[in-house]
Amino acid sequence: MSDPKNPKKNAALQRENEDPDEGIRPLPWFLVMFLGAMAMWGGFYIYVTPSGGDSSYGDQRTVETLRPPVPVGGAGAVVKVDGKQIFGGKCASCHQATGLGVAGVFPPVAGSEWVMGDEKILTNILLHGIVGEIEVKGNKYKGVMPAWNALSDDELAGVMTYIRAEWDNKAAPVTAETVKAQRELTKGRTQPYNGGADIAAGT
Ligand code: HEC
Repeated sequence: MSDPKNPKKNAALQRENEDPDEGIRPLPWFLVMFLGAMAMWGGFYIYVTPSGGDSSYGDQRTVETLRPPVPVGGAGAVVKVDGKQIFGGKCASCHQATGLGVAGVFPPVAGSEWVMGDEKILTNILLHGIVGEIEVKGNKYKGVMPAWNALSDDELAGVMTYIRAEWDNKAAPVTAETVKAQRELTKGRTQPYNGGADIAAGT
């Protein structure tokens, strides 16, 4: 006997159950409520949390902090930055990679009494720069040495430690603490040193 509503459905088909089909099953109401509550709480939290806060609360580490220590100049001396790299990037354009400078224009740092002398004086030279006449290894120079106070304590300590141990130079490493102390001691200075005679350890 065939189904009058569906003549194609023959007797054999009628005996079978309908194929199951996938219905729509709504999310349970408590899950919907929960997700809604979470979304509202999230929005509220973002709304009430002050933005643009004090950035000093953030990650204070600098690139130097993250770099592994670099051994320099034997005797187990270690600095946090690669002074050679800083010298190559910032100083070698004038003082040359050989450290010999350019005769009559840029004084040598290799063999220089300023480089191997009092570390405080050397630090001050780098922090403030020099204009006017300075005598290096018996020759007089009258150029302009820029101030490098934009470099960090670690970077300055690193480059000084490097130039004090490279070539045939032999002088003790300079620590970031020394740079920090000299930076503080000379913070009143706004002008570069006016030649070699003006350079002192304190000011
Ligand atoms: C733009 C060129 C220039 C650059 C770059 C430069 N210097 Fe100098 N530097 C000079 C000049 C010029 C003098 C001599 C200043 C004078 O005649 O008054 C000098 C002097 C010095 C002196 C004292 C004299 C000596 O030769 O020992 C030191 C130390 C020194 N520089 C180290 C550095 C270091 C370290 C850097 C890199 C961080 C650097 N300089 C980058 C031009 C430069």
